[in-house]
Amino acid sequence: MFYEPSTRTSASFDAAMQRLGGRTVAIPVAHSSTQKGETLQDTVRTLACYGDAIVLRHPDNDSADIAAKYSPVPVINGGNGTREHPTQAFLDLFTIREEHGTLNGLVITFVGDLKYGRTVHSLCKLLEHYNVQVHLVSPTSLALPKDVRQKLVATGQLISEGTELTAEIVAKSDVLYCTRVQKERFPSLDEYDKVKDTFIVNSETMRNAKKTAIVMHPLPRNMEVSEEVDFDGRAAYFRQMRYGLFCRMALLALVLYN
Ligand code: NCD
Repeated sequence: MFYEPSTRTSASFDAAMQRLGGRTVAIPVAHSSTQKGETLQDTVRTLACYGDAIVLRHPDNDSADIAAKYSPVPVINGGNGTREHPTQAFLDLFTIREEHGTLNGLVITFVGDLKYGRTVHSLCKLLEHYNVQVHLVSPTSLALPKDVRQKLVATGQLISEGTELTAEIVAKSDVLYCTRVQKERFPSLDEYDKVKDTFIVNSETMRNAKKTAIVMHPLPRNMEVSEEVDFDGRAAYFRQMRYGLFCRMALLALVLYN
């Protein structure tokens, strides 16, 4: 069950549930009783009466905590505000392992909007358990939140931070993890326009990349990865989506059938 559908993540969960032989009931925020002033805890309690698990995708940062506190059925966080996107992190981790065989010893470069890119926040958390090195490349105004950055510093994984995706960093990277500059997260269109096309990965960029490197993106993408890269075998983002389906099937099976 969802609470903010019509997104890629919701579609992926929907497909995963159907492949497991289950069903979903989609409840869009816009049409839910939230609009009538219902609290999230009451909505969650209600949804729990209809389904065996809840997948919650909600614009508020504290939504997952509230749902976990009040729901009598398992809650999967499908994205809470700008904070976390843990199922994306699992599928990202799975993608890297499938494509590279292991995470250990890899150099991972995060590019783009690292401030609002919640998939990056969640993946960084998982990376703490691995022997990886991390480069951060973003406009200063879209740098990684302090707490997430601090953890990378504490583990000694953070190798460099910059505002430019240089040929040197590209050449060292085993994973180029690109993120969308998320228009909907900006207070004004002006601020969005200033940074929207800053980091573009194209064929020229890929000329400097390792033969074994992969390009990842949580999708949807805008300008940040040029379409010409789609025809490069190192473009892993569509395979990443496919892996996501399997990871979400595994997660649903885990919470529903155990
Ligand atoms: C991401 C998200 O929702 O945070 N997308 C997704 O999981 N399909 C990234 C984004 O919206 O840019």
